[in-house]
Amino acid sequence: MNMSTYAAQRQAAEQRYADRRPLSKELFERASAVMPGGSTRSVLDMSPFPFRVASAAGSELVDVDGINYLDFLGDYSAGLLGHDPAPVRAAVTAALEHGWSFGGVHTDEIRVAEAVVDRFPSIEQVRFTNSGTEANLMALQLARHHTRRQRIVVCDGAYHGGLLYFGHGGEALLAPFDFTRVRYNDIDTLTAIDDSVAAVLIEPMMGAGGCIPAQQEYLTALRRRCDETGSLLIFDEVMTSRMSSGGLQQRTGVLPDLTTLGKYLAGGMTFGAFGGRADVMAAFDPARGGALTHGGTFNNNVVSMAGAAAAMSEMLSEAKLSQLFARGESLRSRLNELFRASTLPLSVTGVGSMMAIHTVDGPINGPHDLETSDHELRQLLFHELLHRGCYIAARGFIALSLDITDEQCDTLVGAMSEAIDSISPSN
Ligand SMILES: Cc1ncc(COP(=O)(O)O)c(C=O)c1O
Repeated sequence: MNMSTYAAQRQAAEQRYADRRPLSKELFERASAVMPGGSTRSVLDMSPFPFRVASAAGSELVDVDGINYLDFLGDYSAGLLGHDPAPVRAAVTAALEHGWSFGGVHTDEIRVAEAVVDRFPSIEQVRFTNSGTEANLMALQLARHHTRRQRIVVCDGAYHGGLLYFGHGGEALLAPFDFTRVRYNDIDTLTAIDDSVAAVLIEPMMGAGGCIPAQQEYLTALRRRCDETGSLLIFDEVMTSRMSSGGLQQRTGVLPDLTTLGKYLAGGMTFGAFGGRADVMAAFDPARGGALTHGGTFNNNVVSMAGAAAAMSEMLSEAKLSQLFARGESLRSRLNELFRASTLPLSVTGVGSMMAIHTVDGPINGPHDLETSDHELRQLLFHELLHRGCYIAARGFIALSLDITDEQCDTLVGAMSEAIDSISPSN
């Protein structure tokens, strides 16, 4: 099957999509008049236009044209708790009863900090931000301040936020640090870490870069190299912290100096955090000689803090997270089975409840192995799944929420099987 055949099928699938969604189309045109591209979060852009969500409950979405979707995207992992987690709703509602925008400290922020320190093995102290991007930027500046060094090592193809994207097209908006890029999972390139490097910023499973797990020996070598050179190791666990109550660092046993968090931890409310070694975090403590100030009007906002306290104390138990992890492992292996039996170039990578479908044959050890991905096939597959009521990211990303059931995973596997058949090479 050649590329142009996929293109024709994709075009037909997009026309079918557009025909069923007149209201979404109209609203896209209205949005485009006042927001460039019709959106304010680029990852939600979709060809020919995004369906516009009218409401969400549990693991389901309904769009303005009345079409239902099973939500396997889980808001790119921020929706881990589903769309209306009762404990979060109750905590936020109760908090609002007491007012907000205090311009003062309150008690929930202590509860959230205690929960984070309690859960993550390498975090001794923590501070909050409003996003994962901001958490990473603060962690990088903190590392530069602590080490009195400038250079930052990152992985090619990684995404660490809107101003920290190291893939194609990320350059123009990249924060102006002195970055050196290395290949993910390539131990040989770790020689780039020397005593001029302030920090290495890395995900223990590359998330947006394609759900590519770090090999254990790579993480161990990375930790050793940072120790040898005095560079700080920063784990971006904005996505991967869901892998256990102590994040992916708890599962791998490789501990960073600093960790950044975000996404689901406030139960779907805006959130970010950075934390780690107390001696490093002391830079923000005047009582310990710290000279850094960390501003942020909404850092301790009442809604996020109430949501985070409830999410961690009532919903994110080790038992629940490991059940979710197992469900994801099972789904990924079932998808892999389907892909192995298909003649299409498909594979799936991931860890636990997060995975990505790729339009290349494996093995995949880093974004460098995805360069031959078939974009037309990926778009076509996305539309075929959407047509069958299953919402995943257009780029193939899946993040299960706690509300997704085994039966719904069966539905996705069935939809995938049908989708593959509908794109059969004989078409
Ligand atoms: C690994 C990782 N780090 C950081 C971020 C940025 O977080 P936010 O979108 O909250 O700024 C993301 C967002 O997708 C992410 O996946």
